[in-house]
Amino acid sequence: MIPIFRKKSEFSVESKKMREFSVDGLEKIGAGFHGTVYRLDDETILKVIDEMIPLENIQKERDTSQKAFLLGIPTAISYDVVKVGNQYGIIYELLNSQSYMNKLQENQDKIEELGKELGKFTRLVNNTVIDDTFDDIKQLQLAKIDRAKDIFDEDDYKMIRHLFEVIPESNTFVHGDLHPGNVLIQKDGSLYLDMAFSGNSASGYGHPIFDLVSFAQPVIGAVEDHPEEDFVSEFNGLTKNQNYELLNAYLKGYFDTEDEEYIEKVKEEILLRARAMKVIDLKYCAIMLQNQESAIVDGDDKRKIIRNLGIETLFERVEAGLQRIRATLENKEDGFFF
Ligand SMILES: Nc1ncnc2c1ncn2[C@@H]1O[C@H](COP(=O)(O)OP(=O)(O)O)[C@@H](O)[C@H]1O
Ligand SMILES: [Mg+2]
Repeated sequence: MIPIFRKKSEFSVESKKMREFSVDGLEKIGAGFHGTVYRLDDETILKVIDEMIPLENIQKERDTSQKAFLLGIPTAISYDVVKVGNQYGIIYELLNSQSYMNKLQENQDKIEELGKELGKFTRLVNNTVIDDTFDDIKQLQLAKIDRAKDIFDEDDYKMIRHLFEVIPESNTFVHGDLHPGNVLIQKDGSLYLDMAFSGNSASGYGHPIFDLVSFAQPVIGAVEDHPEEDFVSEFNGLTKNQNYELLNAYLKGYFDTEDEEYIEKVKEEILLRARAMKVIDLKYCAIMLQNQESAIVDGDDKRKIIRNLGIETLFERVEAGLQRIRATLENKEDGFFF
């Protein structure tokens, strides 16, 4: 997911009590959009988090992971928030296993099988009832849409908001940033990572469609944003067709069905909303680029991908996304929720 960049938090009271770490000499064992992961010892890792993410959100990632673990959500044990130079990090239990992302990249002939397995696992976790000390994902998404009110025409804003207003309430667990890089494969059942609270995504309670929308985001990015036939996604190393294959397999595993008609029906609901969220992120990026904001202009490789697309292309994609949403809504009946 494309993050919304925030200014570094001013919070410093907590940091006095924090343990301090250096990553000098530590082995780097992984990286995501917001964090770089180092092995500390045989039992723990240190996830150093991007300095754009405010400390309060980092503390929230730790707290949410801890609460989820205690409620039986399969995830790494989390320890304290620590200081690493002028950044912060979280200590987690070391899990000696591969993510679905790596496994998919290494076994491109097994997309169907791995996708289904991942779908089955996330469905199981989505059935877990959690309490209201967690965030309400629907409200967070609506708040995000409301923050974007002024960057869209009134009709487009209402159209996007309506897509999320109609999602039924649920008291079950939503990971919030579900993609193959955030699920580790274990022999006795997989595990979730990265219950981040980056300002863009969060774990909490809500209808399972929110996780399916997260899962579909890279497919939207890979398939709709890139007209080239031989495109390989920078995000997951899979081609356009492989990304589609992965989403289809994932949904078949998730809903435990081979019924293509059913899969197409749920896919339409999911892709509509994935597209809507993507349109918001892209519009922010386009505006930031237009304003030459340093977070995007000076950012590292991940920001470079966005930067290199150029302002015009970003705005074109926003319009194309909105157009697709309008066209889909014209031809369909009311929301179908599973
Ligand atoms: N507890 C852990 N044990 C082993 N590897 C981990 C652990 N946590 C993260 N990793 C590795 O680091 C990568 C990035 O971690 P993640 O928490 O997803 O960061 P980000 O918030 O940047 O996406 C993961 O895909 C995984 O390969
Ligand atoms: Mg991650």
